[in-house]
Amino acid sequence: MTAAATGGRLAGFPPGFLWGTATAAYQVEGAWDGDGRGPCVWDTFVRLPGRVEGGDTGDVACDHYHRWHDDIGLMARLGLNAYRFSVSWSRVLPEGTGRVNQAGLDFYRRLVDALLERDITPALTLYHWDLPEELQRHGGWADRDTAAAFAAYAEVVANALGDRVPLWITHNEPSLHAIVGHAVGRHAPGVRDWRTGHQVAHHLLVSHGWAVEVLRAGTTGKVGISLALEPAVPSTDSAEDAAAARRHDDHLNAWYLDPLFRARYPDDLWAWLAARGLTPEVGFDDLATIAAPIDFLGVNFYHRRVTCHDRDGGPLELREVPAGGTTTAMGWEVRAQSLYDMLTAVSREYGPCEVYVTENGAAYDDRVIGGRVHDVERVAYLAQHMRAARDALSDGVPLRGYFVWSLLDNFQWDSGYAKRFGVIHVDFQTQCRTVKDSGWFLRDVATSNGVPLGPAITANVAPGTDGPAPAVPSLTEASS
Ligand code: FCB
Repeated sequence: MTAAATGGRLAGFPPGFLWGTATAAYQVEGAWDGDGRGPCVWDTFVRLPGRVEGGDTGDVACDHYHRWHDDIGLMARLGLNAYRFSVSWSRVLPEGTGRVNQAGLDFYRRLVDALLERDITPALTLYHWDLPEELQRHGGWADRDTAAAFAAYAEVVANALGDRVPLWITHNEPSLHAIVGHAVGRHAPGVRDWRTGHQVAHHLLVSHGWAVEVLRAGTTGKVGISLALEPAVPSTDSAEDAAAARRHDDHLNAWYLDPLFRARYPDDLWAWLAARGLTPEVGFDDLATIAAPIDFLGVNFYHRRVTCHDRDGGPLELREVPAGGTTTAMGWEVRAQSLYDMLTAVSREYGPCEVYVTENGAAYDDRVIGGRVHDVERVAYLAQHMRAARDALSDGVPLRGYFVWSLLDNFQWDSGYAKRFGVIHVDFQTQCRTVKDSGWFLRDVATSNGVPLGPAITANVAPGTDGPAPAVPSLTEASS
């Protein structure tokens, strides 16, 4: 969508605003045993029968480990000035502690240097759910020693890249990793125990605090954490549903925000969980450690959760109900207002110095037709959410950047390759990349530093300002 196509009406962003895409190591890299990488919990989990749709694995994924150079070329073609990626812990430390695998570190050094050469700001996430298997064998995140191992790993990465990465994210979505991976068991390592889930969440937060200290000493960059913030709202106006939604909201959001910004867990939920024997062990000083000041908060936003009371609904006695209205291929509600509400509420209540939307995006059933992907729904989704972000900025949220999930279609955890989130389509048979219309839309946003206003974004998405179709096939060839 060009400015011309909307009559030039753009909601502009401040100079220097970061426009990027986000990925995670296990979801895109592949090369699962290449160049000395050790196994991680996902390598094990995907091999358990029935855990991942279609029996898919991240063994090859987008083969980004080998195609990173071309992938950075695609980012440059899209005019992006930032890229969020994660480091695979077991590529750097195959056993999780001790021995450093230099080839693994070199991969990230090459990646970062190539990004900087293209004026693309690297935003490095240290941990996106891929614990080295060796550490899982010794208890994983349920064991406090894993938090110490994480701080040591952070130091290794900081020593290698501390002088050239401006944005450091300790953890990605500790809530999802703790609960979906350790209480519900739908993600690796597949543990199903709520108390363990809460202990894991606590250790992830403690490890964040220790890593902040390490990164302060060993890097020149800004340090933060990315939380999945998912507002929970009651399904009816009954008092019971309101209380259930409040519990859900505390469990999803305040359980992480309160320790990070206020050095405490939320009282009501703590009491609820304590009555059921589900609170974590908290060491002396842990809360002060977790609340080490950070430079920015990363917000990953996808959808809100409409919640009702349900006596049989697990330890929190609640259940989610469909929100109604439009949904993505994940079944997630499309409602940009929720992003605005979340950004403004979090800024008002917790006062982060800076905020980045470190993930936002949508899965749709994309098809390549004649070398093009007309993903009009994703374009509309992104435009609406970017406008909501712009409104939040106008209303005082210190928003500094926006990363679309994701650069490429990739391994979507327990959904395998069935769900496509990329602004670039990947044919997983051939590894052919095809820029979707949403990729060209993102280019126009990034290069104009503005989001088109007006409703007419769903149709007639321009192929990109420099024009007609040939640009796409040649990109496809160049990177396949
Ligand atoms: C987030 C994860 C990310 C991706 C998106 C769709 O919860 O951080 O890895 O899978 O969901």
